Amino acid sequence: MSKTFYIETFGCQMNAHDSEKVVGTLIGQGYAQVETPEEAELVFYNTCSIRDKAEQKVFHRLQQFKRDGKGKTFAVLGCVAQQEGEKIFDKAPHVSLVCGSASYHKLPELLVQIESGSRRVTGLSLDREDAFETPLTRRDNPHRAYLTIIEGCDKSCAYCVVPFTRGPERSRTSASVIAESLELARAGYTEIQLLGQNVNSYRDPSPAGWNFATLLDRVGRTPGIRRVRFTTSHPRDFGRDIVDAIDSNQALCNHVHLPVQSGSTRVLDAMQRLYTREEYMRRIEWLKSARRSIAISTDVIVGFPGETEADFEATLALLDEVQYDSIFSFKYSRRPNTHALTLEDHIPEEEKTRRLTILQEHQRGIQIRRNAHYVDTTEECHVEGFNQATGQWIGRTSQNKTLNFLHPTARPDLVGGYVPVLVTRAGPNSLAGEAVN
Ligand code: 5AD
Ligand code: SF4
Repeated sequence: MSKTFYIETFGCQMNAHDSEKVVGTLIGQGYAQVETPEEAELVFYNTCSIRDKAEQKVFHRLQQFKRDGKGKTFAVLGCVAQQEGEKIFDKAPHVSLVCGSASYHKLPELLVQIESGSRRVTGLSLDREDAFETPLTRRDNPHRAYLTIIEGCDKSCAYCVVPFTRGPERSRTSASVIAESLELARAGYTEIQLLGQNVNSYRDPSPAGWNFATLLDRVGRTPGIRRVRFTTSHPRDFGRDIVDAIDSNQALCNHVHLPVQSGSTRVLDAMQRLYTREEYMRRIEWLKSARRSIAISTDVIVGFPGETEADFEATLALLDEVQYDSIFSFKYSRRPNTHALTLEDHIPEEEKTRRLTILQEHQRGIQIRRNAHYVDTTEECHVEGFNQATGQWIGRTSQNKTLNFLHPTARPDLVGGYVPVLVTRAGPNSLAGEAVN
């Protein structure tokens, strides 16, 4: 009988996609996936360390199995693995395998060591020169596929662990990216999401030498692929050619996620973000002057060390100026190894909470007003599922807005398809409507 494994994933889409590759690799090694950790012989946690809370989750999970995990093998993968390394064995002695994302190509080898009785095995090297590629990826979603184009990050934002947990940038060759796009289309996928910590600094290592805008455009020209998204962008490297590509290629979704982090140039400087508020706004103007209506989303951190009330207000004013379609907002969290640890004037927790609440309320108002403009328009929806409770189909527009809709006929085969929907209602976080026949 084949050995069973369970995997739970925390964190970003990069991690979700890494898990798809790890699952494929494990199945390729003869293991069988099960749905609960209780049933499994091998338990994997693919972890996130972007904020302290995310990191604590894995230790909680491991704690649960401290006594009743006998006979199981525990493995910690991902960013916490890379960051904490062998210290994990001290904190959770029942863990046998610790492996960071830059060492996943070694997993089969590490598993052999575990099988032959090794108690503590690690894969923590970051000196990988190429990205982790495997033809064995087991994708979770049958319609939308993740595709890694670049791994790692060469920036050094003062708050961020990623350069330490994912190592330096490694771009895949354009030929391998295009080959994977073709293969995905052949397998029936119609939507591709290009992934990287900083997709804009993609640089084809082969003589073709494509930049990101060229790669994006070419992936968008894959026969059968109707939608291409990408995440995440760094404003410093975000070129106008990306906006031109979106304007000239309908398959590229009209949505850009452009993390700003703060609306104060003083704070951006302390964060080592390498752009000013004005430089960021120039990119927003490119997006707003495009022929297509491009939705814009962002990430914001409140309470970075030294952030004054005036700095915070500059961020609120920036939200007004940009009119984002959505934001992800976070309280600053101290991370090991990062430069921000050495900064003075850390903001008290209650104050960070106050700023976060104000920010989120402010943005909620913006979204209510923005989304109201979609009422009476028709949007093409990529159908993701059906909600039994409400009797509505769940879809997503090219702009990445959730659009729940009714369909006059009870056709069970809408999922994965594209349906034009008339928007009849709008809320802060989603739209609702009726399918157009
Ligand atoms: N504290 C709070 N938020 C953080 N992010 C990254 N590092 C931290 C941190 N130390 C946020 C940023 C980034 C998003 C993925 O997570 O906004 O864009
Ligand atoms: Fe993703 Fe960053 Fe979290 Fe790692 S630390 S899982 S790269 S968000």
